[in-house]
Amino acid sequence: MEAVEADGRRTADEHPITPAEAIRFGATMTAHGGSDTPRLDAEVLLRHVLQTDRADLFARLTDPLPPASAAAFLTLLGRRIAGEPIAYLVGEKEFMGLPIQVGPGVLVPRPETELLVEWALRWLSDRPDAVVVDVGTGSGAIALAVAAGLPPGSRARIIAADESAEALAWAARNRWALALDTVELVRGDLTTWLAPATADLVLANLPYLTPDQIAENPLLAAEPEGALLGGADGLDLIRRLVADLPRVLAPGGAIGLELDPGQTAQVTALLAETLPGLRIETIADLAGLLRHVVAERP
Ligand SMILES: C[S@@+](CC[C@H](N)C(=O)[O-])C[C@H]1O[C@@H](n2cnc3c(N)ncnc32)[C@H](O)[C@@H]1O
Repeated sequence: MEAVEADGRRTADEHPITPAEAIRFGATMTAHGGSDTPRLDAEVLLRHVLQTDRADLFARLTDPLPPASAAAFLTLLGRRIAGEPIAYLVGEKEFMGLPIQVGPGVLVPRPETELLVEWALRWLSDRPDAVVVDVGTGSGAIALAVAAGLPPGSRARIIAADESAEALAWAARNRWALALDTVELVRGDLTTWLAPATADLVLANLPYLTPDQIAENPLLAAEPEGALLGGADGLDLIRRLVADLPRVLAPGGAIGLELDPGQTAQVTALLAETLPGLRIETIADLAGLLRHVVAERP
């Protein structure tokens, strides 16, 4: 497809290109751009342009691609190669089966975070009156997925908090789109705004990366630094959150944290030291990495 111009036509023979050619070309370009999933990236972008599903796209792989669609595809491809996440380009990311809308200013929810939500839903299954606080909610993914997954009859109160007004605007948009109006949104610093002993379950996927980890990973460049950077060792926010737990966590309450796997041992020790008697466990992701520390207060 090197002979394709921005209007989607070949320069040599003037025949429109096909979706199959567009995907091949897109996969080559996104691979050069550093993508781990080049073919999938190209296919998802083309499906977005054509507003179609996989089966339909595959049924017309050799049909001519309308020039306007080819041009729109090339524009998205350029933005992808420049480092924009696919989810920003198509406007959403699926999380726990929910379409979560995202764009510049908010973190794209990651698949591993679904494990934290699954653990939270198990914990909440026999606690119908729990107060749940999602600290650093971003797009609202965790709070909204918990709200959507509660068992029938649950009266749990779900509060989604973030200090970023931009992130909260995305959370509000998702709350509206998913018709989960009972989820409360709060703008505030960590749990400092919570009254003593009011949270039964604190969930937090806070920024935990170091400056070096961010600098080394060009795929993170488009996401807000305020959603990624956790200070020199990545633990600034988590330390402050844990320090406030003795005040905000109700007796019998629990906490679930997402971390860099390299931080698990340190955070486990920090929790044990801050709240003696906590029952602490770790959860491994599908790659066997310990990404979550969960703990229950006696
Ligand atoms: C890693 S993102 C997680 C977003 C979302 N929970 C998810 O899992 O996709 C971290 C979020 O924490 C928020 N944040 C950073 N510092 C904060 C603070 N001091 N208090 C509350 N939220 C904070 C950021 O704005 C960002 O939305």
